[in-house]
Amino acid sequence: MTATIIDGKAFAANVREKVAGHVARLKEENDITPGLAVVLVGEDPASQVYVRSKGKQTVEVGMNSFEHKLDADTAEEDLLALIDQLNNDPAVHGILVQLPLPGHLNEDLVINSIDPAKDVDGFHISNVGLLGTGQKSMVPCTPLGCLMMLRDHHGSLSGLNAVVVGRSNIVGKPMANLLLRDSCTVTIAHSRTKDIEEVCKQADILVAAVGRAEMITGDWVKPGATVIDVGINRIDAPEKGEGKTRLVGDCHFDSCAEVAGAITPVPGGVGPMTIACLLANTLTACCRANGLTEPEGLTA
Ligand code: GUN
Repeated sequence: MTATIIDGKAFAANVREKVAGHVARLKEENDITPGLAVVLVGEDPASQVYVRSKGKQTVEVGMNSFEHKLDADTAEEDLLALIDQLNNDPAVHGILVQLPLPGHLNEDLVINSIDPAKDVDGFHISNVGLLGTGQKSMVPCTPLGCLMMLRDHHGSLSGLNAVVVGRSNIVGKPMANLLLRDSCTVTIAHSRTKDIEEVCKQADILVAAVGRAEMITGDWVKPGATVIDVGINRIDAPEKGEGKTRLVGDCHFDSCAEVAGAITPVPGGVGPMTIACLLANTLTACCRANGLTEPEGLTA
């Protein structure tokens, strides 16, 4: 079997187009422009790339983008003061503090100082609790993107066996909660799971979010399963020339694609969906803040 490739790049473009349409209507009918504030502390190169990309796409869908770049040695109280200012700014509907933060800053404290209604990452403890109890919340962007693609591919997910490999707060745990909410039978597998290969082989839906290059191979995959690869790992690619690298997922693409029914590629799968869902979350937060109907199909 050769798997259907789930085109996350095209899917994300479609989400952005829908968001842009809603943003245009909000402006025309309500004179409201959604605004997203992104806070970057320090100069981590990968974070700088993400933040630039977020700012660019925010503007492209017609939203206001507010970027706050702080020095790596910024004091915690100064960061908290900025978040307080953004919490109270009516032009800001979404706030994202780029992670990881420099070591001297308490990540939990910082995230939990964001107004939960503006927490477009869905990392605030209130949003985590709301999601865990099946209530309306802000949903973390990467798992939301995965869910959108899964719903699109399968229609109903009810009764399917889902295995999420990885137990991070950013992806694994919220992904498991979302799949449970869609009535999957959910297992979270991780580095200590016994017979992990056999556990994965039971999955109708296999979500890989471990951050280990090409860890999951085709012999871990149930024939016909849907494989969602969240990993983005840079590895050496001597075949491309000396010192060259390439991006791979947590799944070994070629062997998994031979067995799976459908699979997301890396790059071009889950990756582009994350920022698209951040924009969708900002729009949702803006609609909620203004007591307006939320856009359909852009939330969990
Ligand atoms: N760093 C890596 N992924 C993310 C994310 O989804 N949100 C934030 N705030 N930081 C990140």
